[in-house]
Amino acid sequence: MEKTLVIIKPCAVQRGLIGEVIHRFERKGLQLCGMKMMQLTDEILIEHYAHLAQQSFFKRIKDSMMITPVIVCCWKGLDAVRIVHAMAGKTNGREAAFGTIRGDFSMSVQENIIHTSDSVENANEELARFFKEDEIFEFEQNGLNFLYANDEI
Ligand code: PPS
Repeated sequence: MEKTLVIIKPCAVQRGLIGEVIHRFERKGLQLCGMKMMQLTDEILIEHYAHLAQQSFFKRIKDSMMITPVIVCCWKGLDAVRIVHAMAGKTNGREAAFGTIRGDFSMSVQENIIHTSDSVENANEELARFFKEDEIFEFEQNGLNFLYANDEI
């Protein structure tokens, strides 16, 4: 099974949407296997947003990610990376489909509620960036046979 990273951004922390976001992934059938509140630093954000370093909004997005602590989560499931990314919706909240997290709660491209990993390779890299090994927990998910068929897992 795959694991993927979700960062619940300061905009969602301030708007009281932490529970709403977690609730959606739980109801989908994903397993929460790591979660903590964390104050991000310029150092970790320079690494995390390295691919955006040349963008005009680079400083602005870093600053917005440090306004309050964030919640970092690790979610596990079959095809978890693709599923979680799709549940977030398009980057721009004004363009994201209704029913997705951003489509339902965001009006912005920057203040877009969550960050999600966009590939298995990036998920592994990002999980290692935000979690120590002993902060990700391996335990059996109750009711797995009601979530998947035998030959799927
Ligand atoms: S990319 O190039 O595919 O990585 O771009 P995208 O996935 O759409 O966006 C990556 C992150 O950049 C943020 N973003 C912006 N912030 C502020 N202003 C503008 N114009 C802007 N465009 C993109 C966007 O919120 C994404 O943040 P994360 O944390 O990855 O969701």
